[in-house]
Amino acid sequence: MANARITVHTAADIDRIEPEVHGHFSEHLGRCVYEGLWTSDSADEDGYREDVVELLADLEIPVLRWPGGCFADDYHWEDGVGPQEERPRRRNLFWAQGPEDLPEESNAFGTDEFLELCERIDTEPYLAANVGSGTPQEAANWVEYCNYDGDTELADRRRENGHEEPYGVKYWGLGNENWGCGGQMSPEQYAREYRRYATYVGTQSNLMFDHDIELIACGYEGHEWNRRFLEEINQSRWGVEFPLDHITLHHYYGRGMNVDEADEDQYDRMLVEALEMERHIERMAGAINAVATTRDIGVIIDEWGTWHPEATADNGLEQPGTVLDALSAAAVLDVFNHHSDVLTMTNIAQTVNVLQCLIETDEDEAWARPTYRVFDLYAPHKGSEAVQTSVDTPARELADDDEERELPLVGASASVDDDETYVTVTNLDCREEKTIEVTLEGVDLDSATVEAELLFADHDADAEVDADNAEEFTAEELDVSVDSGALIAELPASTVAGISIQ
Ligand code: AHR
Repeated sequence: MANARITVHTAADIDRIEPEVHGHFSEHLGRCVYEGLWTSDSADEDGYREDVVELLADLEIPVLRWPGGCFADDYHWEDGVGPQEERPRRRNLFWAQGPEDLPEESNAFGTDEFLELCERIDTEPYLAANVGSGTPQEAANWVEYCNYDGDTELADRRRENGHEEPYGVKYWGLGNENWGCGGQMSPEQYAREYRRYATYVGTQSNLMFDHDIELIACGYEGHEWNRRFLEEINQSRWGVEFPLDHITLHHYYGRGMNVDEADEDQYDRMLVEALEMERHIERMAGAINAVATTRDIGVIIDEWGTWHPEATADNGLEQPGTVLDALSAAAVLDVFNHHSDVLTMTNIAQTVNVLQCLIETDEDEAWARPTYRVFDLYAPHKGSEAVQTSVDTPARELADDDEERELPLVGASASVDDDETYVTVTNLDCREEKTIEVTLEGVDLDSATVEAELLFADHDADAEVDADNAEEFTAEELDVSVDSGALIAELPASTVAGISIQ
């Protein structure tokens, strides 16, 4: 008798799952860039960590956002180009660079180093320009430095710095959290700044460069802020439609849950907070629909993931990497699939060593966290067509919850690509196993080829990864049987399955 029944409506398309929905974010914060991506004992002669580069390349990450975060609105890109020994050392206003090297920025890792990293791992760069303390001129110059092929001082400077051809950077963010660390602006104030920046960065850039660039505005978790921002954006004189291709929000969860002290009731609560991602996406899409009806604006979740009390500014926002965190990533990636009609990108925070990083390092080694394994298991969804998936699942009421919320114990999503249907299923119950039954409308499972993998069967939700045990979190084969036209499988507590049907 199944505990949860999943029905994949194979002909009910939602939309393509943009590969960029599996994007990443790295900031000059703690050990993310310095020690994580760049310069350490295991660095190659150019300063990149070969072990980290290899892990990133293996995952085929589609996009990488940089340099922040809050750091972006205090960063002046010209500090980070040219001969490294001539680059100015600055204080890092928001984040320590590590316990022995308090808040200072060497600028050793700058635009060319970042863009070369993106070339090495074959990922699309996404640069976040400084709106909080910068100028439209500075942002427009950055675009020119990166993308212009003509005979100007900035294009020549890029050539002198070793890159003859324009980089063709496509994604440009205008500010970060401009309602907070990016300048404490009201939505109307940010909209006016956005228009000013977009005039110089976007409108003129699209005339000047061969490459199409896409401009990204900073939004907020609430509908009201976004509605006011979009209404003000629309108030431009002469009816000019300023380039605005995407609008973002950030969603972190788990701030109330100390990793090493939490019990299963708190796990349930954190997973419910993670699933609130759905409400945030819907509210952002609602704001766009309500106000910006003539525009085609994509929703980006620019930063997301767990942020536990262990991660403080003093320790460079480091926290343990657990199976529970990885389960939350699976649950959120399913939400993203369900909303592929509005989502154009998402970036988990942050790539290496910081918050819900996928990769952790020490001086000698780099290893994948359980969340890395989830991204790997979900990779077949990238670029496929998401289809409607119904999940009939038991739920558990949260203990002592004023809002009487409940956690659906099984989550799933599915996508279709040519003759393959790929289904991901998560048992979010950290206490008990679940028998799942999966049916695919219009597919005769008796004559289909089914292959399935399972993550975390040998670990509890609180299992923590380290350099020595990292390989224990890799996927293993999952037994799936066919009974009365349905796939049947047992998912132990806190596990994630990927099922391919051809
Ligand atoms: O990812 C850490 C910080 O979280 C970022 O700098 C900021 O954008 C967000 O508040």
